[in-house]
Amino acid sequence: MERTYVMIKPDGVQRGLIGEIIGRIERRGLKISAMRMNVIDENDAKEHYSEHCEKPFFGSLISYVTSAPSVSMIVEGKDAIKSMRTINGATNPSEAMPGTIRGDFALETGRNVVHASDSVESAEREINIHFKDDETNEYTRIDEEWLY
Ligand code: TYD
Ligand code: MG
Repeated sequence: MERTYVMIKPDGVQRGLIGEIIGRIERRGLKISAMRMNVIDENDAKEHYSEHCEKPFFGSLISYVTSAPSVSMIVEGKDAIKSMRTINGATNPSEAMPGTIRGDFALETGRNVVHASDSVESAEREINIHFKDDETNEYTRIDEEWLY
């Protein structure tokens, strides 16, 4: 099984979309094995988005993700990384398909509601930025024998 890091960004929290987003993840069959709400520390945000540090949008991206509480999750399951990126939809919401979170709830790239890691390496890197080892939970969901 694969695991990935998912964030409901501050706009998702402020717009009351936490339940909607978590519901989609859970109903897909993906398992949430860690979850926390907090205002992300500026240094953690910069580390998280370090690949974009030279981009013109970096400053506004950091102030947006640190502006208010967000929800951090570790999401597990078969092909969790790719499946979560598909559930989220395209980075630019105007290109995101209806039925995706961004395609259903967002209009702006800079306010695109959710994040999910894009590779195994970034998933492990991002999980380590946002979670300590003792914050993860190992458990079997009762529907797993029917999902796999
Ligand atoms: P990126 O890693 O390209 O997208 P994704 O979140 O789908 O992995 O970019 C990270 C975030 O940076 C993106 O979710 C929103 C923000 N961003 C902008 O504000 N403007 C831009 O032009 C781009 C490409 C991203
Ligand atoms: Mg990215």
